[in-house]
Amino acid sequence: MKQFLSVADAGDPSALAHLARQLKAAPWVHASLGQRKTLGLLFLNPSLRTRMSTQKAARHLGMDVMVMNMDQEGWRLETQDGAVMDGDKAEHIADAAAVIAQYCDIVGIRAFPGLQDRAADYAETFIRQFQRYSSVPVLSLESATRHPLQSLADLVTVQEHWHAPQAPKVVLAWAPHPRALPQAVANSFAEWMLAAGYPLTIAHPQGYALDPQFTTGAQITHHLREAVADADFVYIKSWSAWEPYGQVLCRDTGWMLTEAHLPKASTRIMHCLPVRRGVELSHELLEGPHALVQAQAGNRVWAAQAILVRLLEGLTNESTSPSVYSAKL
Ligand code: CP
Repeated sequence: MKQFLSVADAGDPSALAHLARQLKAAPWVHASLGQRKTLGLLFLNPSLRTRMSTQKAARHLGMDVMVMNMDQEGWRLETQDGAVMDGDKAEHIADAAAVIAQYCDIVGIRAFPGLQDRAADYAETFIRQFQRYSSVPVLSLESATRHPLQSLADLVTVQEHWHAPQAPKVVLAWAPHPRALPQAVANSFAEWMLAAGYPLTIAHPQGYALDPQFTTGAQITHHLREAVADADFVYIKSWSAWEPYGQVLCRDTGWMLTEAHLPKASTRIMHCLPVRRGVELSHELLEGPHALVQAQAGNRVWAAQAILVRLLEGLTNESTSPSVYSAKL
């Protein structure tokens, strides 16, 4: 594996989930695979789970880890080619990426969308520019449009909790939130479930359609109660509108999932966390016997470890060199 930005980089998602479950059973089996290799983790946005689980995964593989909170500790980076840098951005990503590539063998990046300009967000400018000016494999820690590490952990969690021969009925259900949130988790969950061959229903209010590149093959509805009535797994997530882009259009508390929505006692409840209790879903569901949120968070370690194994296996002896940098400028 040369990069991990989406399900397209995963090959067979179920095979990757199987590897993650093998690593969960034997965390230290590849304890020397990452020796003398350095993982750099660049955060342009806050994180709890991604930050800690990826470090833990890397250490199971013997890697060194360097964490850089770019939003608080680094220089503000310019991403536009040819920019006259007389504003608040102190360093160009061309320079920073080439430097970081000399320190790190693999780089993880978290770069949320601005939610102002859909075309710019969906172009994934930060990660694409970083890749352009560095020569190291890049691992998404949640980009503007996708969160593949979360989705792999979600797939692992579904497979751990589903033992029937037929595919489970999975529902992705929009939830209210006081703030406008990225579409990345929802996009990614949809494309991973569909790639894994699971029937997927997406329930959201009018105006919250996701980009069809992620949802083609899913059933779309605007009726939450009907969608979740016979679901085996309900994944709760808030996201902002597609049109007008990045806005909060709906504050209808009827979209908050409660026990009253779920006639089937065995329906499993999922959420990537962090969650707004009493806004996105009820305390009772979150703390109830069918909530899988802690299992999902735990599986983030094994998802990250599976991806790091594949990225380490894909490393070649080609080294980063200043000539790469020079050639690209
Ligand atoms: N689910 C998730 O990615 O959590 P963090 O934002 O805390 O990393």
